[in-house]
Amino acid sequence: KRLAVFVSGGGSNFRAIHEAALGGKVNADVVALVTDKPGCGGAEYARGNGIQVIVFPNSKSAPEGISSDELLNTLRELRVDFILLAGYLKLIPVELIQAYPRCILNIHPSLLPAFGGKGFYGLKVHKAVIASGARYSGPTVHFVDEHYDTGRTLAQRVVPVLANDTPEQLAARVLHEEHQVYVDAVTALCEDRIVWREDVCERDRGKG
Ligand code: GRF
Repeated sequence: KRLAVFVSGGGSNFRAIHEAALGGKVNADVVALVTDKPGCGGAEYARGNGIQVIVFPNSKSAPEGISSDELLNTLRELRVDFILLAGYLKLIPVELIQAYPRCILNIHPSLLPAFGGKGFYGLKVHKAVIASGARYSGPTVHFVDEHYDTGRTLAQRVVPVLANDTPEQLAARVLHEEHQVYVDAVTALCEDRIVWREDVCERDRGKG
């Protein structure tokens, strides 16, 4: 399979997936890194590893860079099978979601549906988890729909929230699990092992 990864930041999940693909655990090639932040750590890692960097500002107020139609054409030319969001901070255009049904994953650093949605990103998530008194947290890998963090859950891992945790400490503990759970989920996706059961109601995400 052929993967495009969307990144806005440091890109440690992107790197974990790329290394797993190089090592043969994930049966796929990472063929493109799409970013709205061409100077981010993820883009630097991509350039250093011969992965095509596509700058997609994803904003009407930023005329430079390619449009969503051009991005879609490029992804088609590259024969991308799956799109992985990994620390990508914007909503992806609806045309992309429609063009890649059930083929776009995201990772979020909390146990969704808790602590998800617009405004819950980065350390804000972990601060809110600690402030709530929750004793557990952990990453969620989910399919992407038109909203922030509401698509169907594919995998989660639980980590403890320890007494006196700082947001940074909790973030590091969750991030460690993110790398593993995302690689495992992408491994299954690329081996066509995901079964999308229509008879399972989405009660866990409040959709009925
Ligand atoms: C991760 O915590 C991920 O869950 C969230 O953004 C962060 C990205 O980290 N969506 P990195 O850039 O992969 O290191």
